[in-house]
Amino acid sequence: MASLPREALQAATDAQVIIRRMVEVDVPKVAESERLSYAFPWSEGIFRDCIRAGYHCRVMEIDEQFAAYAVLSTGAGEAHVLNVCVRPEYRFRGLGRRMMEHLFDVARACGTDDLFLEVRPSNVTAVRLYESLGLQQVGLRRGYYQAAQGREDAIVMRLSLQAR
Ligand SMILES: CC(C)(COP(=O)(O)OP(=O)(O)OC[C@H]1O[C@@H](n2cnc3c(N)ncnc32)[C@H](O)[C@@H]1OP(=O)(O)O)[C@@H](O)C(=O)NCCC(=O)NCCS
Repeated sequence: MASLPREALQAATDAQVIIRRMVEVDVPKVAESERLSYAFPWSEGIFRDCIRAGYHCRVMEIDEQFAAYAVLSTGAGEAHVLNVCVRPEYRFRGLGRRMMEHLFDVARACGTDDLFLEVRPSNVTAVRLYESLGLQQVGLRRGYYQAAQGREDAIVMRLSLQAR
């Protein structure tokens, strides 16, 4: 898929950036980005299951170009970010931050107090982004993720949505 030239992207106004619900026809594009972004990507079937299960699945478009997606679950007063991903050519322009802030709004609208996520310690960009959004480490899950060499731990991070 063609992406916007960098200058056009930087000039994008708020009106050109849309975050909407993910629907099943989005899944092939989402899964393609997933494969570009993760060593152990979710399958198309996992994304379909998330939509059917009623998770909050979102897609971000810039000038109708697919740029990012996210999956959030909510329940029992807690929200969990299950996936957030920006297509490689759209990274480092604040879109990940913007998608996360959208997820915070969704979680708050569901009456959620706390938002949680897991992240690989090696994913320095993501950890820095989450910390700058106010998330704090509250735990470590040993050997949580598949890794090229065995397993990798997960940092568990939490944000109090009421305090924001
Ligand atoms: C993690 C991810 C979603 C961030 O998306 P993004 O749109 O690049 O994020 P942003 O531009 O909003 O912020 C990225 C952070 O990277 C850093 N950053 C910004 N510009 C940068 C640059 N040119 N070079 C290096 N780092 C930079 C900053 O710390 C920034 O945080 P800040 O807003 O506090 O300054 C994206 O890298 C991604 O999709 N990665 C693959 C999937 C993934 O790992 N998802 C997270 C799983 S837990």
